[in-house]
Amino acid sequence: MLIGVPKEVKDHEARVGVVPAGVKALMDAGHKVIVETKAGELSSMTDNEYKQAGAEIVGSAAEVWKRADMVVKVKEPIAQEIPYFRDGLVLFTYLHLAPIPDLTEQLLKNKVIGIAYETVTDRNGTLPLLTPMSEVAGRMSVQVGASYLEHERGGRGVLLGGVPGVPPAKVVIIGGGVVGINAAKIALGMGADVAIIDINLNRLRELDDIFNGHLRTLASNSYTIAKAAAEADLLIGGVLIPGASAPKLVTREMVKNMKKGAVIVDVAIDQGGCIETARPTTHSNPAYIEYGVVHYCVTNMPGAVPHTSTLALTNATFPYVMKLANQGPMAAIKSDSGIREGVNTFKGSLTYSAVAQSQNKPWRNVAELV
Ligand SMILES: NC(=O)c1ccc[n+]([C@@H]2O[C@H](COP(=O)([O-])OP(=O)(O)OC[C@H]3O[C@@H](n4cnc5c(N)ncnc54)[C@H](O)[C@@H]3O)[C@@H](O)[C@H]2O)c1
Repeated sequence: MLIGVPKEVKDHEARVGVVPAGVKALMDAGHKVIVETKAGELSSMTDNEYKQAGAEIVGSAAEVWKRADMVVKVKEPIAQEIPYFRDGLVLFTYLHLAPIPDLTEQLLKNKVIGIAYETVTDRNGTLPLLTPMSEVAGRMSVQVGASYLEHERGGRGVLLGGVPGVPPAKVVIIGGGVVGINAAKIALGMGADVAIIDINLNRLRELDDIFNGHLRTLASNSYTIAKAAAEADLLIGGVLIPGASAPKLVTREMVKNMKKGAVIVDVAIDQGGCIETARPTTHSNPAYIEYGVVHYCVTNMPGAVPHTSTLALTNATFPYVMKLANQGPMAAIKSDSGIREGVNTFKGSLTYSAVAQSQNKPWRNVAELV
């Protein structure tokens, strides 16, 4: 199979769909890879490294899209990429189609086989291609929170770990899933006093076991959240209700009662945020202050660390790339129920029910089409 890797064109997107190690593995398996020049540059992966791994470097995105049997990307295509769609092209990337009817329409009209990272499932029914970005964002949340707690960045001037004789900062994490556990690891590692709040008691049991009592686990309710928020130096939002907007668990009143100079990092902002005063921000202007509390609400936090994020993402996506290449898309879709779940558009049919529902469109089960 000829696999194409274009350079990402979405604003502030510095990741790349396949790394040089992936190119080498694909070449070893008898496939060919074409990479647009400078595709990996912002992730610190040079054309030369791709070339040494066996890729052919081409000068334009148009050439990659035109020649490749399968295009492997990171973000959903934007307007300038849509003219490259064509019948039978396999596109493997994040698609997030539900809120983008135009893109859905174009994929259908051009009969593209669109396989979305975000809906591929593993044997446990979880979403393996979302997990790595939550790991990155969870770990980053403490790093950025610690930085905004510094006086000169608007924070109350608290060192996360304290020092002997001075207590550490209090970190409160709402949501003990992938983001939450990764935030907790880093916060504990930096010596903070950590509490984690979740609605799932079994998850709290697991966290208590994993951290061996080094953090406090709290059952989620508005009373507990209000109390914890008022005490927090750093409040991290990592709640998710799959498929739904995040619930506003921290109200405006609770934020008003927080310490002046405390910091909020609402990681769940990509789902609307779980803190009422949070609104989406970008890497160019990541934080603002409301009620004296610093708010950091960047919707694509992993974009700040593209080298790590690219490697983390491609570690997870690559086995699927290899399977699609080795077996061919039809056989891979037939044999792997996880890949099948990832197929959102198939040769003119919409094949993912949640996208169809949100756009009020008909859909077909891909199993009946392959
Ligand atoms: N901003 C970014 O750049 C970025 C990056 C990655 C992930 N995210 C987002 O972070 C959020 C969390 O992702 P995740 O992978 O950790 O999800 P997850 O499913 O692993 O964890 C979510 C947790 O929230 C808990 N929860 C649900 N309702 C709750 C409530 N009422 N009170 C307390 N806890 C509750 C669940 O029990 C679960 O443990 C998602 O919205 C995800 O999209 C954002």
